[in-house]
Amino acid sequence: MLPNEGPPPSLPVQLLHSITRRRHRVYGLIGGVVLLLAVTVWVYGGFETGIDFFTSVPRPAPPPPPPPQHDPPANHDAITTHAAVDVINGAPSTTAGGVAAPTQTETQADEHPAPDPPQETIEPTDDWRHSNQSPAAASVTPGIPTKIWQILLPKKPDDKTWKADPKSLEDTASWLALNTDYMYTLVSQKGGEELVSNHFSHDPRIIEAYHNMPNVGMKSDLMRYLLLEAEGGVYTDTDTVALQPINDWVPADLRDKVAVVVGFEFDKLDGPWWADINHWVQFCQWTIAAAPGHPLFRSMVDRIIASLDDLSAHYNVPVQDLKPKSFEVMNSTGPAAFTDVVFEQLRLRDPSLKDTADLSGLTEPKLFGDILVLPIDGFGMGQQHSNSTNDGSVPPTALVRHRFKGGWRGSKRRRSEKWRA
Ligand SMILES: *[C@@H]1O[C@H](CO)[C@@H](O)[C@H](O)[C@H]1NC(C)=O
Ligand SMILES: *[C@@H]1O[C@H](CO)[C@@H](O)[C@H](O)[C@H]1NC(C)=O
Repeated sequence: MLPNEGPPPSLPVQLLHSITRRRHRVYGLIGGVVLLLAVTVWVYGGFETGIDFFTSVPRPAPPPPPPPQHDPPANHDAITTHAAVDVINGAPSTTAGGVAAPTQTETQADEHPAPDPPQETIEPTDDWRHSNQSPAAASVTPGIPTKIWQILLPKKPDDKTWKADPKSLEDTASWLALNTDYMYTLVSQKGGEELVSNHFSHDPRIIEAYHNMPNVGMKSDLMRYLLLEAEGGVYTDTDTVALQPINDWVPADLRDKVAVVVGFEFDKLDGPWWADINHWVQFCQWTIAAAPGHPLFRSMVDRIIASLDDLSAHYNVPVQDLKPKSFEVMNSTGPAAFTDVVFEQLRLRDPSLKDTADLSGLTEPKLFGDILVLPIDGFGMGQQHSNSTNDGSVPPTALVRHRFKGGWRGSKRRRSEKWRA
């Protein structure tokens, strides 16, 4: 017997069957849609209306809040923030009155009316804390105060009859003319004493070093570092000519980053080594620009004190009785010592630097942390070496011309330059 042997179902019955099958299909379809919906809701964690369809199903955790908007984790940025807060908290008058980039100070104040605890934002990006480098790379609020400093001291320390020769200040006019809104100060005996006692009386080593300097050239050297540490601004020798306004020294896109500007006096390149120069590239200290309080100058003062102690021990005479040779001056207060200290600061900011030769042949300003290094023409144009422009033209990159005319060391330097040329 076959199963469907019976008579075919009547038409109404067939119709009923087909309707039933269609209804099943519709139910199936609706069920499928509901299932799909349920799965969707489970996976995406509910509708935006906030209705929670499946409270028993653990929802995926909400996405973490976006990370705070940090600046790029460059050394100086993090440290600058820290220092800026310190300065604002500690000595409001310094920041308000001294820093030449008022927009920056204002911006900081606007953006951080109630600054967060500085440590929290700093720790993670603070590269030097994780290296074995010293915290001397710590930095200050960028911006060069609108101050120009020159130093003019009598050759003999206690010469009461001494008067400055107006000719020795001829080149100063170029600085005043190009920087009309800058405050100019000529520091001499009394001003120097006052600055040292006003700012450094807490550190007897500095007072002592200043008063015991074996000669006036070295005293002038120490004075410029102390000036820049205490007040910031631009120090420049009296035999320098300003070629560009100080406001144009730092490229516009770097102004909120630069706290020190230094330039070269010598770059060996493919030339010979020079008698008194023990670096492939040597920085000049006839012109330096800085924000106040930069650690570079504290390091430099430490170096001076250490060098004088070394010389004193070596010759077995008290510091004030030393008769240092030319190189000993250069290597204690002058450009050789300055180069050691600047280079150490650059290395704290860029550990890939190994030797001053790594800076050789620079053709445009280069920023290391908050220290801007100028190519040779920046402060050292018009020399017969170092690929300095010396064809009578003044390149737009030349900011200062050093005339090597005055001063205790200047004449010596000029002689050696002739010898070298
Ligand atoms: C330069 O001075 C430093 C510090 O006194 C000393 O360690 C170093 O040997 C000197 N360099 C030369 C070449 O004499
Ligand atoms: C000297 O400077 C010019 C212009 O910046 C540059 O083209 C040239 O390569 C430099 N020469 C050396 C030896 O560095």
